[in-house]
Amino acid sequence: MKKFMGAAAAAAMLVALSGCAGSSDGAGGGGDESLIVGFSQVGAESGWRTANTISIQDAFEEAGIELKFSDAQGKQENQIKAIRSFIQQQVDVIAFSPVVESGWDTVLKEAKDAGIPVVLTDRSVDSTDTSLYESFLGSDFIVEGEKAGEWVVTEFADADKVNIVELQGTTGAAPANDRAEGFRTALGDDAKYDIIATQTGDFTRAGGKQVMEAFLKANDDIDLVYAHNDDMGLGAIEAIEAEGLKPGEDIKIVTVDAVKDGMTALSEGKINFIVECSPLLGPQLVEIAEAVAAGDTVEKRIVTEETTFTQEQATEALPDRQY
Ligand code: AHR
Repeated sequence: MKKFMGAAAAAAMLVALSGCAGSSDGAGGGGDESLIVGFSQVGAESGWRTANTISIQDAFEEAGIELKFSDAQGKQENQIKAIRSFIQQQVDVIAFSPVVESGWDTVLKEAKDAGIPVVLTDRSVDSTDTSLYESFLGSDFIVEGEKAGEWVVTEFADADKVNIVELQGTTGAAPANDRAEGFRTALGDDAKYDIIATQTGDFTRAGGKQVMEAFLKANDDIDLVYAHNDDMGLGAIEAIEAEGLKPGEDIKIVTVDAVKDGMTALSEGKINFIVECSPLLGPQLVEIAEAVAAGDTVEKRIVTEETTFTQEQATEALPDRQY
């Protein structure tokens, strides 16, 4: 079914065009049992990713739309295979969260030639031909990196020198590229901020722990860890504690995501500041999928609304945290 139109799609258009973050009850309504959406997920590397998968699966189920879900296990080639399989199955809409930013033009062109609209969720691609996808729904990762850097500038305003180690996300992934860039923009060219080591921990807790262990062996004067997600920050906490040091005190930690485990560590004072990145994209993705399947135009870029958390704010928010 290539053309689908109904009240749900019309309502969806309003939300998509307004560019607002979707509410948790905004998933389409009546549903359309003949609509089929193929979704290729990055994998299950982090608490954020698990929450994102649940949000998407629940929203499509609630909307009564068939979702063909494929887990790429962190590999771009698996995502390309999944997209080609969705094209072969003639799904109505393809959505995916790209593992890395580059290398999508060929397969996106194949989807376009087959007349199947593509929606990017969470992460974007670096294709210069933006006609290859209908919309990109997700966070502004550069702004997230800037918020982390702005906190550092305030926190260390009186320090003469700040030795920073950075746990980067998956190499080539949009959030790794952008969070690194935004952070550096916020620090500016003040020589007192010194990023003495930077390495990927692949967005995993184990990766964060392993890289932090190496950082601690090579440097005995680390002031701050900037982790591109909570999971790597939590791994860093384990490594810091194993060295007999106090995370949050001897070495300060700033992370991105605000999943429950991260917020708990923030509330306990082991993390000092978290920049939120919301994984609850499912309801909005349903609305966009319904609209593009109906042949409607949606906003090219829909930015997720997000906040930041101090220790006090985390303690207050934790009881109601959904993920
Ligand atoms: O693309 C979003 C990022 O991917 C999240 O910050 C991270 O936890 C995840 O793995």
